[in-house]
Amino acid sequence: MFEIESLPIWISVPLSLIILVIILVATAYIYTTWTHTIFKKMGIPDPTPGLMGMLPLHAEKGIIELDLEVTKKYGPVSGIFIGRLPAMLISDTGLIKQIFVQEFSNFVNRNQFVPNVNIMKRAIANVEDNEWRAMRSVISPTFSSGKMRDMSSLINMCVGNMVDSFGEKVDPIKSVKLDEICQAYTMDVIAATAFGIDADCQKNPEFDFFVNAKKTLQFSFSAPIVVLCLMFPILTDICDYFNLGYMPRDCVKYFTDTVHHAIQERKQETSNKRDLLQLMLNTHKESTNASAKQMTEDEILANSLFFIMAGFDTTSITLGFALHCLATNPEIQDKAYEEITQKIGKEAPTYDNLKNLTYIDMIISETLRMYPAATRLNRRANNDTNINGYDIPNGMIIMVPIYTIHRDPAHWEDPDKFVPERFSAENKDKINPYAYMPFGLGPRNCVGMRLANLVTKMAIVALLQNFRFIQSPETEVTPKLSKGGFVRSENGIYLRIERRNV
Ligand code: HEM
Repeated sequence: MFEIESLPIWISVPLSLIILVIILVATAYIYTTWTHTIFKKMGIPDPTPGLMGMLPLHAEKGIIELDLEVTKKYGPVSGIFIGRLPAMLISDTGLIKQIFVQEFSNFVNRNQFVPNVNIMKRAIANVEDNEWRAMRSVISPTFSSGKMRDMSSLINMCVGNMVDSFGEKVDPIKSVKLDEICQAYTMDVIAATAFGIDADCQKNPEFDFFVNAKKTLQFSFSAPIVVLCLMFPILTDICDYFNLGYMPRDCVKYFTDTVHHAIQERKQETSNKRDLLQLMLNTHKESTNASAKQMTEDEILANSLFFIMAGFDTTSITLGFALHCLATNPEIQDKAYEEITQKIGKEAPTYDNLKNLTYIDMIISETLRMYPAATRLNRRANNDTNINGYDIPNGMIIMVPIYTIHRDPAHWEDPDKFVPERFSAENKDKINPYAYMPFGLGPRNCVGMRLANLVTKMAIVALLQNFRFIQSPETEVTPKLSKGGFVRSENGIYLRIERRNV
């Protein structure tokens, strides 16, 4: 019989290595493709995945285009692969209602696709089951309408800085890229409302807080750690062991130190601040519910960090698109200005006077329909279950393509047209509530929704009181959207700004 040891060493060593490589490649191949037959067994159509699942397609087309194509070709319930992980891509609103609301107890958690540093595992978006329930009941009241009213004066200061910044960009010919100004505004808001920090990123774009937050959000499907963990989810455990995550280590350290320092300062003084950090520190004092859990310092830290990530970019994207939609629909901008002039005139926007501006609410809702900042919702089945005839196994990931549904002509007449009247008091009852989900759905929807709406509305009102936004030759009327996890303009939003004769 043939034995490797009997061969000369110069043949046996390379031969052994070749055999080892073949075994490793074959094992990796079997491991990564093992899941590929699951949808055939479930009777659900899916695009045949390649060796790397659909990662190359995610990178090449981007999430939005991929979801539109898959849904068009395979229907409202299909299978996709995120690395080796199978996920059901669902745009059937009946099924969505069942999963996100009626059967919520079976779908409480999100799937975490990429490794997170240990500290972030304590954030509300990442904790699971009863831990999430307890944390949500503590955090929700910090975003109540009363708390938002308290925070509105903090937001107003940031609005003032932004108006000044736009004022400097007024030009009869040149257009302005809005993205950085909107980002500086929402970063100021998060720094002020979450930590009581007066950042003024409009004047200090190099402020560490701002620079690190932007770096933290540079997530890409093609980053090596992301690709490896999606292809070999087992590596996530190894990353956990070494406390590795997709966020740059120096950013995590910067924010951890900043928040830790702020917490220590607050502990030493009797603070009457009304920002989110103080509200979280106060929760146990203010709670009337004996079973309500006091948050640990790590949890406060994790959530403060998460608020920066969840709140800053999403809100600035929404504001940028709202201004774009107003500039490209000047008659709607005029109507919005008319409402502001009639109802609050030149008064500075406040929590209370904003309530009268219902047309501005309609504009924000329609902006979020056309450009929902988040691309997909995600839940994971806790048990084997049967929903509407689909046998969904324990662990199955559910993905809901928000953009696809928001642009589906079956739910929205003329879906690519900006029509705020869809959300008027007379019309909004006609909207299928499971076809509109910019802030998610069900008990685990966006906890910061009130803050996001307030921040966007205050900015739009103050800006329209001072300026007119005008489409220019640089404006992409239909913005090209980026391929990443957020619905953002790939090339930036360019508009011309004119000062109103006030
Ligand atoms: C226009 C701005 C925003 C948009 C479009 C947005 C959208 C979303 C979406 C789609 C989700 C997932 C919901 C689901 O799975 O059903 C979410 C979750 C979340 N958002 Fe927002 N968000 C915005 C602003 C904010 C702000 C300002 C904060 C806080 C400062 C925030 C904090 C959160 C948190 C903590 C979660 C996780 C909730 C949980 O797991 O219980 N968001 N957001």
